[in-house]
Amino acid sequence: MPTTLWSYPSQHYVGSDGRRMQGDKDYLGATPSWVIWQVLQRYTREGDRVLDPFCGSGTTLDVCADLGRQGKGFDLAPARDDILQGDARHLPLPDASVDCIFMDPPYASHIAYSEAEDCIGRLDGAEYLDAMDDAIAEAHRVLRDRRYIAIYVSDSWKKRKGTEPGSGSGTFLPIGFELWARLMKRFKGIDIICIERRNSKLDRGNWRRAAEDGNFFLRGFNYLLLAKKEEVARTERRERAPR
Ligand SMILES: C[S@@+](CC[C@H](N)C(=O)[O-])C[C@H]1O[C@@H](n2cnc3c(N)ncnc32)[C@H](O)[C@@H]1O
Repeated sequence: MPTTLWSYPSQHYVGSDGRRMQGDKDYLGATPSWVIWQVLQRYTREGDRVLDPFCGSGTTLDVCADLGRQGKGFDLAPARDDILQGDARHLPLPDASVDCIFMDPPYASHIAYSEAEDCIGRLDGAEYLDAMDDAIAEAHRVLRDRRYIAIYVSDSWKKRKGTEPGSGSGTFLPIGFELWARLMKRFKGIDIICIERRNSKLDRGNWRRAAEDGNFFLRGFNYLLLAKKEEVARTERRERAPR
């Protein structure tokens, strides 16, 4: 994909084994495998260790298997046996032990993923952003130097209910900008890709009407935030190299 504007042709792609399925299409909030495929093709090599700390239905693990990468997936509520139980903020991994990280975390409290108390998908506002700051810090700890991290995420607009405090009909949280700022505290920015969402809800008449009547916008795109860990800047490395 040569530009920063992507539109995936289908949620899944036809894998090298001819199967057109990665992860679980019925999993609420599953990542389009096509997006993970693009990231791994560009930023990893065969045999690399790829971590997904919010692994959900295991889409990243399936794309890794397809491309000959070693996938490692954690989730608070693992959906299958090859996903390990763990919190993205405290991973049982040594420092600098993975070659690439792909994550598609909850987008504040839009989807109830599980009953797990520590689920980041239960949080909103500052609490959500603090939790994601911890997950980004942990990602930085376990990623090897000069390797890449990709975060697939959407902003959030939530309708205000009943007696909830605040003004206007809802609350907007610019998750993409907020997570980018937190990424930049630790990583070097590489780029930001805008990915058109292919959510069927976007085409439903009642949703479109609600957006017009309520004077809000339906989320039409996701961000793919791309960054690199650079412990030692390139010039410093050159200076340190033996002559
Ligand atoms: C958007 S879904 C991931 C979708 C996944 N990439 C897929 O394709 O199926 C977000 C996931 O984050 C998990 N999660 C929420 N809080 C977490 C935490 N603190 N640590 C690890 N996983 C968490 C949820 O259980 C959910 O499976």
